[in-house]
Amino acid sequence: MQIQINTEKCKKDKICIIECPFNILRENSEGFPEIIPKAKDVCMRCGHCLAVCPSDALTFDGLAPENCEPALKEIAVDVPAMEALLKNRRSVRVYKNKPVEREKVAHLMDMLRWAPTAKNLQPVHWLLVDDRDKIHELAKMTVQWLDQNNAYPGIAAAWETGEDMILRRAPLIAIAHTATDALIPLVDCSIAVTSLELAATSYGIGSFWAGFFMMAASRHAPIAQYLNLPENHAVYAALALGYPKFKYHHIPERREAKVTWL
Ligand SMILES: Cc1cc2nc3c(=O)[nH]c(=O)nc-3n(C[C@H](O)[C@H](O)[C@H](O)COP(=O)(O)O)c2cc1C
Repeated sequence: MQIQINTEKCKKDKICIIECPFNILRENSEGFPEIIPKAKDVCMRCGHCLAVCPSDALTFDGLAPENCEPALKEIAVDVPAMEALLKNRRSVRVYKNKPVEREKVAHLMDMLRWAPTAKNLQPVHWLLVDDRDKIHELAKMTVQWLDQNNAYPGIAAAWETGEDMILRRAPLIAIAHTATDALIPLVDCSIAVTSLELAATSYGIGSFWAGFFMMAASRHAPIAQYLNLPENHAVYAALALGYPKFKYHHIPERREAKVTWL
């Protein structure tokens, strides 16, 4: 990891030094920021030093500020819009017979690169499935797993009548997987899937967490084999997605927030 300081632009305001989460930067004898040599390996490459510099003076590992997308001057979403987004998101389980366009999926995947991850390790991989037969197979194997464990007999009974209560005939499944020895894999994958769920709503795409499938995928060997994940990877979160067939006309009530202050 390296930083270059444009000494003509740098105002010596120390903002980059204060911002660095791991205190890797210090002032040099002339008052410009520099990396503490011993601390160099601690850098998690979050890029905050570059992002926070108001004078465009800091280049991070060859990435110059002029080559970065500018950050917004104002907050992106105001409070009413955010509240509306969070309250109006629903778990959508009934879909139009319409595929989710791969270009939209690619855009969503691209946006999700900015979701937070433990130590900025960005370990999340996505396995996407939009082939109906494969989705059917995944649901079927999940039902078999539940059946073998005598769990939720109603789900297997429904399957026998042609009803898929696992993946709900969704046209797209997004599976977040990562190495089992990643720092905090469940949290990283869950944040990624939560971000996907919210981001998808901006395209009018609904979704629900495929919880039964997630559990089966990490416990039922045939599913793991079918997914053919990289060595040492496991499924930590998964979302079923599609265009909602129905609109919601009301926001259902939820419990009061359980909050205390220490
Ligand atoms: C970890 C997790 C697992 C879930 N698993 C399933 C599931 O397997 N099937 C399903 O239909 N919904 C599943 N859900 C959706 C919840 O049932 C849903 O969020 C809850 O009923 C509240 O409804 P809402 O999301 O519309 O507000 C899951 C949600 C979470 C967070």
